[in-house]
Amino acid sequence: MNILGIESSCDDTAASILNETGVLSNVIASQSIHVQFGGVVPELASRAHHRTISQTVKQALTEAKLSIQDIDLIAATQGPGLMGSLLVGLSFAKGLSLAHQIPLMGINHMDAHIFANTIEHNLEFPLIALTVSGGHTQLSKLSGPYIPEIISQTRDDAAGEAFDKIGKLLGLNYPAGPKIDVLSREGNPYFHEFPKGLMREGLEFSFSGLKTSVLYYLQSKNDAFITQNLNNICASVSHAITEVLVTKLERAMQAHSIPRAVMAGGVSANSMLREKVAAMAGKNNFTIYKPSLSYCTDNAAMIAATARVMLQKEPSISSQQRLEEGFGIHPYSVQPI
Ligand code: KG4
Ligand code: ZN
Repeated sequence: MNILGIESSCDDTAASILNETGVLSNVIASQSIHVQFGGVVPELASRAHHRTISQTVKQALTEAKLSIQDIDLIAATQGPGLMGSLLVGLSFAKGLSLAHQIPLMGINHMDAHIFANTIEHNLEFPLIALTVSGGHTQLSKLSGPYIPEIISQTRDDAAGEAFDKIGKLLGLNYPAGPKIDVLSREGNPYFHEFPKGLMREGLEFSFSGLKTSVLYYLQSKNDAFITQNLNNICASVSHAITEVLVTKLERAMQAHSIPRAVMAGGVSANSMLREKVAAMAGKNNFTIYKPSLSYCTDNAAMIAATARVMLQKEPSISSQQRLEEGFGIHPYSVQPI
């Protein structure tokens, strides 16, 4: 079965084709227009999706050496995300579905980050998921391979948002997360102790205090000091964020007596986080699944992979039942978003 995945929830237009043999193509058109504004401008994002979506899907088909007639299922991100951006991908998917009579399935973007792990791993359940992206920071429990049950989330900023906003304070271009990651590798994580929100207890997260603390810290220093110590400041910020993430993940796994976890979302590409989680897993004898870097950040292979998981849930389910369950969509009846 050839599944065409389409993702357009934020500022990446992506299309991918997946079948039993693996990922046949994984095309991502990232929008550079937002850099000058220091963050994603929703209106510009929708327009850029609109400009690139046909070409992106076409390229995914070409790279997979398939035509649209070979596609058995279209899977498109239904939410959460920027409404204008989502509508471009979903409407395009609906058009393809109607024109070519191909069933269409709506996919939850956060579930997809988790099920990105099914592309490269045979997951064992139950497991805990740490989903850390630009808009979300969540811990979920998966008793089986289907809908994750959220057990905690951030009270304010997401971890990726904290990286990006702190990066902006440091004069780094959007998205700053990957840049802070690289700069941190040459810095001292103990150079300055930034606050680690809600560290002592519980499973919830909070990163807004860290952002304010970095702002005040930078205001108290001159430009030369900041430039000279950029690596150390980045490493100290990364340390504060990743310590919280790994501590909460360990706490959730212990509290739920679940020795397996997946990492998911853009921030799961962070090298300091990956190292800390690996060390924590080694200490506790836990198993951690993590996606390759290209499946951490937004991509459409994870959308197609999630459709495959949902199909396995109930292979005999009718299209109408799928619609009623809330995750499935048939050509003529796209679920309202
Ligand atoms: O999952 P994603 O691509 O999009 C959302 O669903 O939000 O995540 C994007 C976020 C951005 O905040 C970006 O700065 C962050 O992931 N990110 C990183 C790294 N790579 C991406 N943050 C820290 N270290 C990285 N290596
Ligand atoms: Zn995402």
